[in-house]
Amino acid sequence: MQFEDGESLALSAAERIVTVAKQSIEARGRFTLALSGGSTPRRVYILLADPAFGARVDWKNTLLFFGDERYVPHDDPASNYAMVAATLMTTGLVPDRNIFPIETHFDDIDDGATAYEETLTDQFGGDTPRFDLMLMGLGDDGHTASLFPGMPSLHVTDRWAVGTPPGTLPPAVSRVTLTFPVINESREILFLVATEAKAAIVKAILESPPSIDTHPSSGVKPRDGELVWMLDAGAAKLLDTTTLTRPL
Ligand code: 6PG
Repeated sequence: MQFEDGESLALSAAERIVTVAKQSIEARGRFTLALSGGSTPRRVYILLADPAFGARVDWKNTLLFFGDERYVPHDDPASNYAMVAATLMTTGLVPDRNIFPIETHFDDIDDGATAYEETLTDQFGGDTPRFDLMLMGLGDDGHTASLFPGMPSLHVTDRWAVGTPPGTLPPAVSRVTLTFPVINESREILFLVATEAKAAIVKAILESPPSIDTHPSSGVKPRDGELVWMLDAGAAKLLDTTTLTRPL
């Protein structure tokens, strides 16, 4: 899907979240949403905190998870949790018991990853977690979540979350990231990508079949779900829509 600008993209993403929340709660009694860090989703979280959107979501039955986290304290400005706390969670609509941050207080990042796997086991009953909706961003280097080019995390098949060293883009901190087996189990994935700075990487991923080692985002292929790319005009600028290898 293509939008005139970042604001219309964010409005449409917020609207989609409201719709999927309603459908999921009707169908299964709860809505599981995996959040992304990054500047593009930030605006979506601000919109969701606004009553125009927020009042239309049944937050009591909405569970918030994280697709990745920078391995810094939760009050650090680089923390994805801090960003969500300062936006979506400011209204107090989301009960604390429904928020599942990736814990970052362990000395070893792998312990942080294992603790998150335990959280996922508790909430999904031991089956591979299947989020109703997962938000994803795209880094200029092709990364998504904290799956960075060339990293062993790209080929992990037996873990739901792993620790990973810093990628090439700032902030240069270790991370915990969900892995492809979990990401691709999602019922729906929304890639939120804005600005012309992303135009070249969007073109590379959508018009040619790149390898996940160089372009990790190309590994996002839901097994039995929907993948939707939401792009603003800047991010879509270089696309030749006749040669897309996958629909937007
Ligand atoms: C993170 C994110 C990351 C992000 C992309 C795009 O923790 O850094 O989860 O994967 O989504 O880097 O970020 P922007 O939307 O800021 O470009």
